[in-house]
Amino acid sequence: MSPYGIVRPLLFSFEPERAHRLTFGTLKRLGALGRWAVKAPPPAGLDVTLAGLRFPSPVGLAAGLDKDGELIPLWPAIGFGFAELGTATAHAQPGNPMPRLFRFPEHGALVNRMGFNSLGAAALARRLEASLPQPIPIGVNLGKSKVTPLEAASADYAESTRLLALHADYIVVNVSSPNTPGLRTLQDGDLLGEIVRAVVTVALGKPVFVKLSPDLEQPAVADAVEKAEAAGAAGFIATNTTLARRGVRDVGAGGLSGAPLHDRALEVVGWLRGFTARPIIGVGGIRCPATAFAMFAAGADAIQLYTGFIYEGPALVGRINRAIRTALDVRGLTSVSELAQSLREERRR
Ligand SMILES: Cc1cc2nc3c(=O)[nH]c(=O)nc-3n(C[C@H](O)[C@H](O)[C@H](O)COP(=O)(O)O)c2cc1C
Repeated sequence: MSPYGIVRPLLFSFEPERAHRLTFGTLKRLGALGRWAVKAPPPAGLDVTLAGLRFPSPVGLAAGLDKDGELIPLWPAIGFGFAELGTATAHAQPGNPMPRLFRFPEHGALVNRMGFNSLGAAALARRLEASLPQPIPIGVNLGKSKVTPLEAASADYAESTRLLALHADYIVVNVSSPNTPGLRTLQDGDLLGEIVRAVVTVALGKPVFVKLSPDLEQPAVADAVEKAEAAGAAGFIATNTTLARRGVRDVGAGGLSGAPLHDRALEVVGWLRGFTARPIIGVGGIRCPATAFAMFAAGADAIQLYTGFIYEGPALVGRINRAIRTALDVRGLTSVSELAQSLREERRR
């Protein structure tokens, strides 16, 4: 049994957010020792270059796990090739009342309505400044503060960008969380274009990605891509959590993630691939090498994990990294982008 296989039942005996706090607290206290214990750098030859950034592995940490940048040095140690911090908001805010995170182990799923609990963009900037440089690109995912009216959203995103751009390698405009009232209306092409333009203007040349919802229909994705690209977006991340429940017990408002989201995330990434030549980061229900490969086959250039990481533990990152290395060797390919291309062609056949 893996070390995580032993620890998991204990962690899962706690309320989910308490388990998260316990794990983060322990890993923070362990510091370098904790990083040494989980150390699993990616094998050589897994690097991908997206939007001018070199990722030593195409497997990244998805937004929402390390919202306030508490464990920045841990993510490269585990084998992630990039890590996305946040969502951070311009104004510090507590998020929604608890309970706001629910586990469904029988479905490999989570439902959350965290509501952007954030110490704020300035606090994240201080943490980033203290922990850079890191051996992997670090992204910051930005959301609208709850106190900011929707009409003033672009100024709010720009303010967070102004605070964080110097210390981040890439910026993500998150308009796809289901847990901030009205946020997803900002995916409407014209509003999205306005926000992306405001962010790009103060992003100091750092690439700006847009993270989309799985609940958009195909024409809305096309519109979002067109307007975001015209405003200077460097690429896209798909998908965030879904409002659909797919057989998971109703626990009230929130977004569903994990295995039941996977097929829809693949579909949206497939649409995106048809609409854009810019980099796509695929996320949603990746929990093993096969689901990672399916995401590349759908059109992703890199992938991210959240829920699979909670259920499978840190060894999942190494497992996917090694599977990519093996696939390159078996197919006689020399790069991850070639592998993604070859998986895409196989899928079309
Ligand atoms: C508890 C939790 C909190 C999340 N918080 C954020 C967030 O703050 N910002 C964001 O863009 N996505 C957030 N997400 C969404 C994930 O980044 C990811 O897009 C989604 O969960 C699908 O991937 P998965 O199936 O691998 O979890 C969160 C997901 C979970 C489960």
